[in-house]
Amino acid sequence: MKFYISTTGIKRVTISSSGSAVKGSLPTATASRRIPSRTVLPVVLVLGIALPFLFVRIAFLVLESAAACSSPLDCIGWRFFTGDDASMKLREELTGALVEATTGNVNEEQIESFNELVKDMTSKGHDIKAFAFKTKAMLLRMEHKVQSARQRESIFWHLASHGVPKSLHCLCLKLAEEYAVNSMARSLLPPPEYVSRLADPSFLHLVLLTDNVLAASVVVSSTIQNSANPGKLVFHIVTDKKTYTPMHAWFAINSLKSAVVEVKGLHQYDWSQEVNVGVKQMLEIHRLIWKHNYNNLNDEDFEYKGHKRYLEALSPSSLSLLNHLRIYIPELFPDLNKILFLDDDIVVQHDIASLLELDLKGKVVGAVVNSWCGDGCCPGRKYRDYLNFSHPIISSNFDHDRCAWLYGMNIFDIEAWRRTNITATYHQWLELSLKSGLALWHPGVLPPSLIAFEGHVHPIDPSWHVAGLGYQSTEIHREILEDAAVIHFSGPAKPWLEIGFPEVRSIWNKYVSFSNKFIRECRLMG
Ligand SMILES: *[C@@H]1O[C@H](CO)[C@@H](O)[C@H](O)[C@H]1NC(C)=O
Ligand SMILES: *[C@@H]1O[C@H](CO)[C@@H](O)[C@H](O)[C@H]1NC(C)=O
Repeated sequence: MKFYISTTGIKRVTISSSGSAVKGSLPTATASRRIPSRTVLPVVLVLGIALPFLFVRIAFLVLESAAACSSPLDCIGWRFFTGDDASMKLREELTGALVEATTGNVNEEQIESFNELVKDMTSKGHDIKAFAFKTKAMLLRMEHKVQSARQRESIFWHLASHGVPKSLHCLCLKLAEEYAVNSMARSLLPPPEYVSRLADPSFLHLVLLTDNVLAASVVVSSTIQNSANPGKLVFHIVTDKKTYTPMHAWFAINSLKSAVVEVKGLHQYDWSQEVNVGVKQMLEIHRLIWKHNYNNLNDEDFEYKGHKRYLEALSPSSLSLLNHLRIYIPELFPDLNKILFLDDDIVVQHDIASLLELDLKGKVVGAVVNSWCGDGCCPGRKYRDYLNFSHPIISSNFDHDRCAWLYGMNIFDIEAWRRTNITATYHQWLELSLKSGLALWHPGVLPPSLIAFEGHVHPIDPSWHVAGLGYQSTEIHREILEDAAVIHFSGPAKPWLEIGFPEVRSIWNKYVSFSNKFIRECRLMG
């Protein structure tokens, strides 16, 4: 399937340099000062509406004054701005006709362009009422066309974010094949001499739940390349059954000199019946919430600006098992006590060892709460953006103005987590949501997590985690982006997709090994 997406309506992520703090070497040319396409469209629209009126006004004035003035142009200047009784009357008449006009009157003969309108008016000598009908009908049709084009564009853009690109699919197939034919690709991960590190608390444990081999490779290689002591790192990658062999093959072949990587498939876990039932129920309720929202979508939800969160919430990731399993981290890693949890759509840019040494002050999760834009500044990330405050259960329990914390780069004290009822609370709220009509929150993993981790969050410095690089309207200063320990492509425009924003995709591409045989064969391009 191929989507053609017009670039005009899509706003790019803008990276701008703030004036004073710019270092000499920074490519300030990237400080984008272009006119955003979002402003161009309304301007064109306004001009499209205003120009015909202006034209008509002038035309009538010329006709009127032709009789009275020796040179019509002399009169226009004066009359256009002041207006005499006759033109006032004309204006009233025209306004009246426009208000009265309904599109139904002129359906038999649709006028599609301004030129046609002029031709029609001059050839048939219509009266002012007929003119008003035709103009209004034309404008309404144009307006409708623009709106539906915007809706379509916005839907295509979101659809484009849902598919798995052919090149990634190819990579998986080739690696799975390699796993079958090459014993190197099946070699133990980690090698036996390193197995003892897997549960050793003196090492730094990083956790990834993903089915995207390329994305996992970028997370791992960016973390290692920017680490002062990569020998201290232990990666735990959990993937689904179908991705297990390609994921294993990739990390077995591309062995990392220093760090240890473990790849585990969900089919290798031997969970209790209780956990299995819990996971199944959790997925089912998330699916029902998703379906409820999907069924309740109406046209306005596809508006270009307004409700884009609805569309995002409906992305397939809000149905993905690996995405939801994070609430079972204590069950996934029974031997670990403290971990760094990483989403697969991130790039690590600095040494993150000190993050794992951070004191969480007895809390369970360390997360960025405030944004890089200042205290209490969390645009689009308040509780009201995730939870339905029209519902009494939500409005009586939570504050709609609170900042939501960022998921995707978090330190978890699993030991502390085990002492709480967080996972159980999460489940209770899912059940409550089911009982109360599935309308408590938007689909996704964060809303019920905000509730379950209530009171267990330790805020960390915003420079640890800068998120939102996959949204259309994110504007982040270049220095903030460079200073961030972890940048996160949260939002639909993932860097491995065609719709990824080139301005930030280059950062991600730095860590893709384009010289790798499989990546070249699958034509993954930087
Ligand atoms: C967890 O829930 C149980 C039963 O609902 C309760 O007895 C216990 O106090 C709770 N523990 C914590 C730490 O909240
Ligand atoms: C929010 O809750 C109210 C009250 O139950 C409900 O009528 C409404 O449909 C809900 N909104 C969404 C988006 O689910």
